[in-house]
Amino acid sequence: MQVITSIQEMQKTSLEIKRTGATIGCVPTMGFFHRGHLSLMEGSRAENDFTVVSLFVNPTQFGENEDFDEYPRDLERDKDLAEKAGVDILFVPAPGEMYPENFSTFVNVYGLTDEMCGASRPGHFRGVTTVVSKLFNIILPNRAYFGQKDAQQALVVQRMVEDLNFPVEIRVMPIIREDDGLAMSSRNTYLSKREREAALVIPKSLEAGRALLEQGEKRAALVAEKISAVIKREPLACIDYLVVKDAVTLKDIEEIKGRVLVAVAVWIGKTRLIDNFIFESPQRRT
Ligand code: PAF
Repeated sequence: MQVITSIQEMQKTSLEIKRTGATIGCVPTMGFFHRGHLSLMEGSRAENDFTVVSLFVNPTQFGENEDFDEYPRDLERDKDLAEKAGVDILFVPAPGEMYPENFSTFVNVYGLTDEMCGASRPGHFRGVTTVVSKLFNIILPNRAYFGQKDAQQALVVQRMVEDLNFPVEIRVMPIIREDDGLAMSSRNTYLSKREREAALVIPKSLEAGRALLEQGEKRAALVAEKISAVIKREPLACIDYLVVKDAVTLKDIEEIKGRVLVAVAVWIGKTRLIDNFIFESPQRRT
């Protein structure tokens, strides 16, 4: 595996690969790899000739009082895991090169970023779409891999790619969970033992919501109420948001129909965790 730190060298390498007609799959990450990241790398390897993983803890997507400084980092471990996962190139740009002093251009997707994580973390998606645009221009991927855990991020990036005509196919891969159901996240490392137990209320609450949907419940509000009731039973948990929305437009819905996104952000102590599922409601017979 090659490790590249210079933007110019990464772009030159990608241009050379593309000139041979080979395809590039890109996995943008902030490092501290877990099985979720590894599944994205696997997805890329299965569909592309070369896999480039970027590792950059992007300062512009963190708010002032957020966890940029504490965000877990372990480059040597990540290198090892990426190499074992068969990654061809690990791109680790320096913050000063990604955002030099005169940096003044940002990419913003409007509308889709107003709610959910966009409301709780103002400026977050502007940071994400800016860095992802830069990474696409540097890595020149044919396909890019994102996790369904960040459901809103995947939709926002997809919107940006369509609106700005990036020649990149966005692939969204399923959520990877720990054996007990907690969605994998680098932020799970922040949890104390007691908080880690408390965090299980998140997947449990979503399962309760899903069970209701599978029984045929059509009222979005009742599904949300069920999820909320389960979370509230856990004293360490505090709901940031809980939504039942159209999975494509992110519009609020009253009645369950079509593809529905059920998503939550929950504080467990000082750690904010997100999780979701998509429910495809059965077509009504006419
Ligand atoms: O999902 C993430 O880890 C980040 O938001 C991303 C896409 C790598 C951009 O920094």
